[in-house]
Amino acid sequence: MLKIVVCVSGGGTNLQAIIDGVARGSIVNTKIVKVISNNQGAYALTRARDAGIEAVCVSPKDYENRADFNQAFIQEIGKDEPDLIVLAGFLVTLPAELIRSYGNRIINIHPSLIPSFCGTGYYGLKVHEAALARGVKITGATVHFVDEGMDTGPIIMQKAVAVKEEDTPETLQKRVMEEAEWLILPWCINLIAGGKVKVEQGRVLISE
Ligand code: GAR
Repeated sequence: MLKIVVCVSGGGTNLQAIIDGVARGSIVNTKIVKVISNNQGAYALTRARDAGIEAVCVSPKDYENRADFNQAFIQEIGKDEPDLIVLAGFLVTLPAELIRSYGNRIINIHPSLIPSFCGTGYYGLKVHEAALARGVKITGATVHFVDEGMDTGPIIMQKAVAVKEEDTPETLQKRVMEEAEWLILPWCINLIAGGKVKVEQGRVLISE
């Protein structure tokens, strides 16, 4: 059984896709042991509790400095000894120590086709604003392993989504979520739970 902790900051639609995937059986052999948010008001916490999953807030605001927050966050994660940490719209930079101790056991969903529109400052709607400003005709979403860089880890899966001339950042965000994010994040978790994902020389190989 793959034990996962899901980290969230906002609405939690990707979390919901994971919860639904586990409930429906499209994600097998997986248990969401906890949901952690940096934001007490995150609707994602409500989604977790409604599904009977432990949901906790660990906020930098509650600590005197970043080092104290990092320690508290690492401790909270460690309590459950997860096999995989899933960043599903988690907008806090992870402690480097955590990334080092969970090598290739942390995944993130990003709402563009990496390496476009990623890195520092590209999160949430800003990604879609940038895609529209550049005039790309295709965007999408990427699931990748987390390394110590910003959106630089090995790519597990990507799905393309068409941009329409009449798109606003909001309509594009919605289409990228519906047509890409909510599909590929659960899919990747299922593949990892099935032992089908490995990383070799910085590249991901998926077996049948
Ligand atoms: C999602 O679009 C996710 O890809 C993005 O935040 C949103 C969270 O929505 N993540 C990033 O931008 C990470 N750089 P949700 O809370 O409804 O899942």
